[in-house]
Amino acid sequence: MTKQERQIFTREFKRDAVRLSETSGRTTEQIEQIAEDLGYEDSSKFFDRAPRFDFEKVCPCFNRAQAMSDLRPIDPPKSQEFDDLYFSADDGLAESKFVFLDGNKLPENWLEAERFVICETGFGTGLNFLSAWKLFEETTKPHQALDFISFEKYPLEAEKIGLYLQPWLNFFDGRLQQLIAHYPPGIPGFHRVALNERVTLTLIFDDVNEAIPKLIADVDAWFLDGFKPATNPDMWSDTVIENMARLSRKGTRLATFTAAGKVRRSLIAAGFSIEKVPGFGRKRDMTIGYLAGDRA
Ligand SMILES: C[S@@+](CC[C@H](N)C(=O)[O-])C[C@H]1O[C@@H](n2cnc3c(N)ncnc32)[C@H](O)[C@@H]1O
Repeated sequence: MTKQERQIFTREFKRDAVRLSETSGRTTEQIEQIAEDLGYEDSSKFFDRAPRFDFEKVCPCFNRAQAMSDLRPIDPPKSQEFDDLYFSADDGLAESKFVFLDGNKLPENWLEAERFVICETGFGTGLNFLSAWKLFEETTKPHQALDFISFEKYPLEAEKIGLYLQPWLNFFDGRLQQLIAHYPPGIPGFHRVALNERVTLTLIFDDVNEAIPKLIADVDAWFLDGFKPATNPDMWSDTVIENMARLSRKGTRLATFTAAGKVRRSLIAAGFSIEKVPGFGRKRDMTIGYLAGDRA
């Protein structure tokens, strides 16, 4: 474990003791006592021995699923610039699966692909990336590769990502720590990160409108996740949508949480066949589609 990871986890352990106490009816001291009784005199020792949280051991009254849902952040991360949430306050992970994975018909669509390319507008916390990475490794064969490209104008610090996604630390099974460990500095430009032999993340720290015309890729699926079009029209500009068509092939799919008419009209004008389908949770509609004709 790196020094930076240890700092995050040490602080998170203390927060979790507080949260676990709130949901278990035990005091923070009692939770810390349980950890001590198990041989972890302090949180740094705890993490030496258990690099990932082991809720069952720390607090035996919980099963993992209950602990994970109980530990969902009370305040989901919010962007200062756009006064909008990075993901659903109800359940960001479920939203990511519903909108972006299911919306792009994954895993079915990558089952036969040697190399599958996903392009996302708005990396944010990386929740969508981690969801896709995990599903990919769970559903594909060892010779298949995933290339995930994502634009981000306002990169979060690695430490914040660790904090925001901490409720799903166990679920991602080491991948969140790996993302944090390899997350590039927030320097503008293209950052290519090989997470393992099969999974590559290309983070493009720039305004999507500046960077997307420079991108060369054969995209198989689009995750359009750039805050609401009403408050952030730049993320849904004609430049973005025309370049999406340029980077797509016939059948390339897209999914987005929004059902805004302007976005749907621009996508149709660029050659995508569009469908309005029920949205996640309280959202009535969202949009899915695919490039109907050949590359623009
Ligand atoms: C809804 S959040 C994305 C959430 C993300 N997919 C996740 O899994 O956490 C939208 C993201 O788009 C980024 N963004 C907003 N405008 C942008 C622009 N013009 N170019 C690139 N990124 C932008 C924001 O900084 C924010 O991180």
